[in-house]
Amino acid sequence: MKKNSLLALGVALILISCDQVKEAKQAIGAIEAKKAVKSAIKRVINEKRITNGEKIFAEYCAYCHGKAAEGDPDWKTQGPTGILSPPPLNGSGHAWHHSMSVLFNYIKDGSLAKGGSMAPYATTLSDREIKDVIAWFQSKWPDEIYNAWAETNQRDKK
Ligand code: HEC
Repeated sequence: MKKNSLLALGVALILISCDQVKEAKQAIGAIEAKKAVKSAIKRVINEKRITNGEKIFAEYCAYCHGKAAEGDPDWKTQGPTGILSPPPLNGSGHAWHHSMSVLFNYIKDGSLAKGGSMAPYATTLSDREIKDVIAWFQSKWPDEIYNAWAETNQRDKK
């Protein structure tokens, strides 16, 4: 009788540990999958571009979009005239929904022609400078936001 219950206990312990191994394996699998997604998207960090972009932003964009690209706190609320306040570009807004070419053209062409209030920068900034400024505000985006953007951007390119 004593022997039997010891045996039962032993079997129960083995079963429990099997379950735990299974769970542990599943957890490791999930971590590996996450790692694979992370490594698939390589974050481009070009220090030179970012430093240059920071200067350009401070000179041309900060007075509307905020020094740290934090935007107007009321950016989601449309004024009585339908005019929008400058949105954040630091990853907390929705700029990351736009592919690189959309962001680039938004800055190049501005939004006056589309009824917005941002002037075009086509004559003030070179294409390179526009890309530098994008590199700067993108450097503020958290990894998850950058990765989500990179995925959309990749799809738009195809
Ligand atoms: C006069 C104020 C003003 C200045 C200066 C300005 N912007 Fe804007 N920007 C806005 C406003 C307002 C919007 C959103 C609605 C609109 O276009 O009117 C906007 C939208 C944007 C968007 C789209 C964001 C989104 O979430 O869709 C980007 C990108 C952007 N600006 C980048 C820049 C950059 C880079 C500069 C400097 C080179 C700059 N802006 C200068 C006012 C400004």
